[in-house]
Amino acid sequence: GAETPFADIRIDMVRPGVLRLTIDRPKARNALRTQTLREIAEALDAAARDADVRCVVLTGGPKVFAAGADIGELAAHDATSILDDARPGHWKAIRSFPKPIVAAINGYCLGGGNELAMHADILIAGTTAVFGQPEVNLGIIPGAGGTQRLTHAVGKSNAMLMALTGAFIDAQTALAQGLVSEVTQPELTEDRAITIAETIAAKPPLAVRMAKEAVLKAHEVGLEQGLHAERRAFCQLFATEDKREGVSAFLEKRRPAFTGR
Ligand code: CAA
Repeated sequence: GAETPFADIRIDMVRPGVLRLTIDRPKARNALRTQTLREIAEALDAAARDADVRCVVLTGGPKVFAAGADIGELAAHDATSILDDARPGHWKAIRSFPKPIVAAINGYCLGGGNELAMHADILIAGTTAVFGQPEVNLGIIPGAGGTQRLTHAVGKSNAMLMALTGAFIDAQTALAQGLVSEVTQPELTEDRAITIAETIAAKPPLAVRMAKEAVLKAHEVGLEQGLHAERRAFCQLFATEDKREGVSAFLEKRRPAFTGR
């Protein structure tokens, strides 16, 4: 792929329509310093505006996805300075990214790293992946949505076990609890995520975008409001050329040619 101007991440078009974003700060175990988060937010912002990007694969290194917030930065903050922290703004940009993200996770996926992984829409883990929210060991708690997203993903008791004890879970446990969708051999994790992303990249982008938005609503609002949002998006898609094309192609027993309109 092309060289990127970033220091802590690499981006490349790994397949047509699929942008790969690799966290690459191995000396600090991919700890997410403010600059790392800013670079991820900037890369996603550009990807949101690039029609050639249909899906993102988010990955780290073979031994560590990301070891959490940069503890050196945390050490420099007190209760006043943390209020003006730039990081919540970067997290907001990441969670507002409208296209699908598939995470490929090998090795340590801890603290803010696990919170970043949970910003992905689909999580694929290698057998060596280890997940945890060890913030309690530092006298703090997860600060980037972990208490909420982890609870939605694995349920109250499992989330409490991780957040209160700081204990790690392995990939098989993460699979059993619903934190990840699949567990692969570590050398195949990224390939599997890319294959899923390629499949998504070939789908009509408006339908994909609205499906992501509607599924995320399930964690934000009550059932009636969520059903209403789903209905509205469903009806809007009836105005698209890709809906006409997808339905016609099925009835005519041919492959659809989607245009994104
Ligand atoms: N922040 C800053 N530096 C980190 C780091 C982090 N989160 N994790 C690792 N590093 C650094 C170490 O300080 C060390 O630096 P030096 O080489 O300069 O000494 C280097 O990375 C290698 O670390 P280890 O020697 O510890 O590597 P290891 O392979 O033996 O262990 C690890 C890996 C299990 C991930 C271990 O480094 C670790 O436990 N890291 C901290 C995990 C953690 O507590 N994360 C939560 C952070 S708080 C948070 O994330 C808040 C939030 O919700 C936003």
